[in-house]
Amino acid sequence: MSKLHIVANRLPYSLKKEADGYELVESVGGLATGMKSVYTEYGGKWIGWSGVNSDELSPQESDAIDQKLLEKSCVTVPLSEQEILEYYEGFSNKTVWPLFHYFTQYVDYSPVNWEAYKRVNQRFADRVLEVAEDGDRVWVHDYQLLLVPEMIKSKKPNVTVGFFLHIPFPSYEVFRILPWRMELLKGMLGADLLGFHIYDYERHFLSSVRRLYGYEIAFNEIHADDRIIKADSFPMGIDYAKFKSTSASVMQKTIPERSELHKELEKYFMTSPDRRLILSIDRLDYTKGIPQRLKAFRKFMEKYPEFHGKVTLVMLAVPSRGQVEEYMMLKKEVDELVGNINGTYGNINYTPVWYFYRAMPFENLVELYNMSDVALITPLRDGMNLVAKEYVASRGNQTGVIVLSEMAGVAKEMGEAIIINPINEDEIAEALYRALTMPLDEQKQRMGYLQERIQRYSVFKWAGEFVDALENVKRIQKEFLVKKITNSVFGEINKRYVNAAKRAIFLDYDGTLTAFHKNPQEATPNDELYEILNKLLADKKNTVTIISGRDRYTLEKWFADVPINLICEHGVWLRKHGGEWQTLTNVNNDWMPVIRPVLERFVDRTPGSFIEEKNYSLVWHYRKAEPEQSLIRANELKDELLDLVGNLNLEIMEGSKVIEVKSGGINKGIAANQFIHNGNFDYLMAMGDDWTDEYMFKELPDGAITIKVGIQRTSANYKLESVDAVRKFLRNLGE
Ligand code: ADP
Ligand code: G6P
Repeated sequence: MSKLHIVANRLPYSLKKEADGYELVESVGGLATGMKSVYTEYGGKWIGWSGVNSDELSPQESDAIDQKLLEKSCVTVPLSEQEILEYYEGFSNKTVWPLFHYFTQYVDYSPVNWEAYKRVNQRFADRVLEVAEDGDRVWVHDYQLLLVPEMIKSKKPNVTVGFFLHIPFPSYEVFRILPWRMELLKGMLGADLLGFHIYDYERHFLSSVRRLYGYEIAFNEIHADDRIIKADSFPMGIDYAKFKSTSASVMQKTIPERSELHKELEKYFMTSPDRRLILSIDRLDYTKGIPQRLKAFRKFMEKYPEFHGKVTLVMLAVPSRGQVEEYMMLKKEVDELVGNINGTYGNINYTPVWYFYRAMPFENLVELYNMSDVALITPLRDGMNLVAKEYVASRGNQTGVIVLSEMAGVAKEMGEAIIINPINEDEIAEALYRALTMPLDEQKQRMGYLQERIQRYSVFKWAGEFVDALENVKRIQKEFLVKKITNSVFGEINKRYVNAAKRAIFLDYDGTLTAFHKNPQEATPNDELYEILNKLLADKKNTVTIISGRDRYTLEKWFADVPINLICEHGVWLRKHGGEWQTLTNVNNDWMPVIRPVLERFVDRTPGSFIEEKNYSLVWHYRKAEPEQSLIRANELKDELLDLVGNLNLEIMEGSKVIEVKSGGINKGIAANQFIHNGNFDYLMAMGDDWTDEYMFKELPDGAITIKVGIQRTSANYKLESVDAVRKFLRNLGE
């Protein structure tokens, strides 16, 4: 069976130095704690950094560590002190982390760090390439390894690559600030499936892809050159059962068996029946809004003196990225604020804030979740925030209230929490009051709903759905490959070509023979194209026709010196080589004065768009307009036109970045069939890239060779991925 390997900066275990060597301890942070629960199920390796500086290890120590980690199915990527400085602390945590969390003022744009990031990403990819075999799946995680998907895919295209971003993907307006934005996106687009916690991050990502690479995006499918890539949202869950059962078991322990922390907490509650605990847990990170949270708690103390002596905030902060300056400054600020609050409101018997600056064993963590009345979770930005879910899972008796920032991804799933703006101290203070005075019935009702949902979408379900989606993309990609013209398929098509006596060849122009251009008038044929067409035309068995949506004047001008037939405006006009223009159908333009003002209104409201008037159609072009706005406008326009066209016997055709309104009863399929009527052709071929060409693909007689340019779904029999591939195909015909 194909294996699934995990790649993440950190392994699920870190190393702790002891007198007699290194000991493994569990890593902290959403990614490691979440994925640890699932990775062994998939029978692969976890490839990552052990968390120590490789310069400090002797070869023997290094081997011993590798061996110990291998027993846990972990494969290490060693990082030197310099690499940790430039790749981990540098580009990952001083550039990508602050930028993606909208802390643009903290971003360091160091080219040296960028170079190190590329080198280290390559090292991770090389390690994966050693471990993964053809047919395996690789799941790459998070912002430290954005370049790895492409580095794997370009070397081993048969490995299926998934990528999950555990932090927000920012709006294009922020992402575009990065000088290396193109490279980072390219790296991510090496994946077959890209996962985000919530839809907002996914749509920001797709927007950047559309704007920076101009790829077509149909729903959540990206059509990138010759590949289909999918993006989707998968809100990460937790190992719910583990928290639930641990919570039940620690509370059943006899007094002597209980942990020191547990005993302390019980003592606290015993001194007075109306004592309450508010819990705050995170890595010490500026994105978590810890100073703002402390100030809000201070505000609460100020506003509600009746809670003095009765409410304590237990604040756990795990040391994190301590070598990065902003984290050091944060530590100082938090220390001072805690001192200030305790100095102001505390006394010999009462400490308002209990502050722990360290990681806690799992059991202690669960004891705190279980025994705290309120969870106060107020990040300024947070990809997901698993702490909120862990609190829910640990509430055995279904009481407890969550005060939650609207800026955390998890807020989308937790409508039953009290949702606050993390900057608004007054709102948080009021939310705390509401939480502490909420009737038990209401608490249980809210917590009941939360538990039901969080339990259902556990980390196992999350990972399973991601892996299923990865399989699904593989299936879609295979569908494309089935129609792709490989060398052997070309051989068969060419054999029929060589053996034919009379051939009709229909070629669409834009997007088929020539790439799109922002200004359609500049998409002129080049020498290479003339040469290819002249070679085809030199064979007297060939009748070659350009069949296009363009107006006849343009094509006439461009192909004045080429002995070729032209069909224009999607089949309205035909000019056989050496003949005159003739209409293929009886149509009129009475409808134009009605439709033109509608299109003009859309031009006025959509900068960059314009109207083209052809003999029998009007076209609204939006290739040069702002991509997202114009998509919305295109949908609005279609809606409006649909109400009008029925009465007027018109058709709306959606091409590539165009909407065309034309008289009914005309299309490329009808035109091509009229053209070949009584022609005794024994070889028919049609090539085109968009929706208007599908008429040819569908309506030409069986046996015609129909070729779609692009990877979208089609009724053509074959696909070619690009204009270059078309040109190569035509050049090789008959060879
Ligand atoms: P992030 O991924 O930004 O660190 P999350 O809330 O998603 O934030 O995940 C944090 C994880 O780290 C949780 O699983 C939590 O249980 C764990 N954690 C947080 N603080 C501590 C602590 N003091 N001791 C041990 N584990 C902690
Ligand atoms: C967040 C990131 C993870 C990271 C974790 C801990 O959860 O999304 O990728 O591992 O923080 O940070 P650290 O820098 O200690 O690995």
